[in-house]
Amino acid sequence: MGEPREPIGVIGTGYVGLVTAAGFAELGNDVYCVDIDEHKIAALQRGEVPIYEPGLAEVLAGHRERLHFSSRLDDAVANARLLFVSVGTPPTYSGDADLSAVLAVAESMPASKEHALVMKSTVPCGTGRSISRLLAEQGKGDLAYVSCPEFLKEGSALADFRAPDRVVVGDDGTSWAGDAVCALYEPLGATVVRTDVASAEMIKLAANAFLATKISFINEIANVCEETGANVLEVARGVGLDGRIGPKFLAAGIGYGGSCFTKDVSALKLLAANSGYHFQLLGSVIEVNELQKRRVVSKLARHLGELTGRRVALLGLAFKPNTDDMRGASSLVLAARLEAEGAHVRAYDPVAAHEARRMMPDLDCAPSAAEALEGADAAVLVTEWPEFLALDWNAVAAMMAGDVVIDGRNALDAAAVRAAGLRYEGIGIG
Ligand SMILES: NC(=O)c1ccc[n+]([C@@H]2O[C@H](COP(=O)([O-])OP(=O)(O)OC[C@H]3O[C@@H](n4cnc5c(N)ncnc54)[C@H](O)[C@@H]3O)[C@@H](O)[C@H]2O)c1
Repeated sequence: MGEPREPIGVIGTGYVGLVTAAGFAELGNDVYCVDIDEHKIAALQRGEVPIYEPGLAEVLAGHRERLHFSSRLDDAVANARLLFVSVGTPPTYSGDADLSAVLAVAESMPASKEHALVMKSTVPCGTGRSISRLLAEQGKGDLAYVSCPEFLKEGSALADFRAPDRVVVGDDGTSWAGDAVCALYEPLGATVVRTDVASAEMIKLAANAFLATKISFINEIANVCEETGANVLEVARGVGLDGRIGPKFLAAGIGYGGSCFTKDVSALKLLAANSGYHFQLLGSVIEVNELQKRRVVSKLARHLGELTGRRVALLGLAFKPNTDDMRGASSLVLAARLEAEGAHVRAYDPVAAHEARRMMPDLDCAPSAAEALEGADAAVLVTEWPEFLALDWNAVAAMMAGDVVIDGRNALDAAAVRAAGLRYEGIGIG
């Protein structure tokens, strides 16, 4: 038996909170989870998992005795000194990060020198300083504050928890809490970047902004490939082999989505603007991404002519495979634009249909890929779920009314699609 592990609190049981809770429970920590959503807490207490993330349900079930769920912050405060904050920070109408949930947690904390807020939520640089000031004004200046941004990827979040590229721990260097957070992560053997709070906050925003920039860059290269006859798959392979560049995030497609890139890039651009700096590059990254989502509409119009009355099957809705997360998904823009052009959209997604219907109540969701494709004039691969990559294209050709297949992720077997007599078009591959 090793040393007993420190109990922790996790405030906010969404994607980040539940994965953090599951990961630490697996390491042997007791985890006291809190959420203001009482339905979610009741479901978690019954052993139900409210989100889709591969392996998560199994880990939560396997460590149930160490996981405690409550809608009362006091329950976590009474049992743990390190309180990981993983509440949402969605964009406001202005595009800045909405910090109301983060501030609500800080305001609910008691004055205590034994506790620390460990910020996992993605917040603008300067938030830690503002929260510490706010706490001091409320007579809670002894409460410690650590920035510990989260880098997990939905779809492989548990694997990312277990083997992070790095753990970033930012504190003011004077409290016990930074060391305690480092000790918690110690069994993972990850590289720890120990830094100040503001730099930790900026590391998270800069990482997401860089990845989004890489995607918009390759999407623009893809668009130029379409004009010049080059193949972006070949170009990305040749470019990505350069050790200074690397092969990841060089997949051209119909734009990045998800809850993080969209809001974090916008939040960083506005953070810069609010501080008096015009971050020109990020303006282009955002604009390229918005246009990229819409390019599929002009591709379809080129093949089908007038889109009014045309039936378009969308294969996939989630912003990427292996998640049910629809936030910022390219499918939202694509479906809305196609319907605005008068097309009839029928979509299928293996796990995100429920969430998609919540966000687009009028969307026609089919119960299977075959039923979405039946009678369609065109099909668009939006999310590269494995079941779409394994489609029998002869069967698809027989059930579609038309013959257009747009591969929005450059993930299909183009030769197999063409061999079935269908017209194949990818992104930047001619
Ligand atoms: N989802 C990701 O892939 C990811 C990755 C890295 C970082 N992040 C960041 O982590 C944060 C959380 O993201 P998420 O995707 O897990 O969000 P989410 O929306 O899935 O979950 C947030 C949870 O917080 C709860 N909540 C809100 N206010 C609360 C309060 N006052 N007290 C207790 N609970 C409260 C909500 O009910 C919800 O269950 C965000 O800042 C996000 O940018 C997300």
